[in-house]
Amino acid sequence: MAHEAVGVVVPAAGRGERLGGRTAKAFVPLAGRPLVCHTLAAFQRLPQVSSVVLVVRAGDRARMQQLVRRERFTKVRAIVAGGPSRAVSVARGVAALPAQARWVLVHDAARPCVTSRLITAVIQHAKRHGAVACGLRSPVTVKAVDEQDQVRLTLDREGLWLIQTPQAFRRDWFADALTRVNGTLEGFPDDVAVLEWAGFPVRMVPGDPLNIKVTTPEDLLLAEAILRNRHSA
Ligand code: CTP
Ligand code: MG
Repeated sequence: MAHEAVGVVVPAAGRGERLGGRTAKAFVPLAGRPLVCHTLAAFQRLPQVSSVVLVVRAGDRARMQQLVRRERFTKVRAIVAGGPSRAVSVARGVAALPAQARWVLVHDAARPCVTSRLITAVIQHAKRHGAVACGLRSPVTVKAVDEQDQVRLTLDREGLWLIQTPQAFRRDWFADALTRVNGTLEGFPDDVAVLEWAGFPVRMVPGDPLNIKVTTPEDLLLAEAILRNRHSA
């Protein structure tokens, strides 16, 4: 299976509520170009990736199509409409991948600072283990609280990871898990969670502290600094 094709799904169908503003998150200007262009460029330049499916809100499809054409992201094979939750958006994206893609790699559009090095490492580990997510070991203690911010539980940081994308897995495992959940994907917060639920082994591999998710306006400033620094290096 080591040389089989990897299909990439880039979910970009969120509302971008926490970022605020009127521009959809994917199109927000970042270091001189729309945010999603940085994310797509990371896959466009990787030889081991041949097809990318972009998942967007239905109303953004035409605009995204134009952007993809203008920027010559030739690996983007389809731009499909997402769903009410991230998991539904990802499942729709996977369904639109070409049949020869036996491996799936999912990466948030909202993580524009991802490097070729991290993507390549995630693909390599996935091909060895079947399913992997990248992330960072938690440097801090995590507490779980109730609605009044009353502490309910203190977790030991040993053994806790903060999850990032890319996440990559065997497509047949994902298909198998999907048939078993039977349509109720809403509760799965990340891409491998449905595999875990179905009993497939999922490994964690080291992510990258600079692979931040653009969630708030402050993240946009950080991402801008990371990208500009990289380009001037
Ligand atoms: N996403 C998606 N479909 C959804 C929800 C999220 O494709 N129904 C995507 C987002 O576009 C983003 C990634 O999943 O690239 C991670 O989600 P998040 O950072 O939460 O982005 P948004 O959902 O857009 O932001 P917010 O939660 O602030 O509205
Ligand atoms: Mg969200």
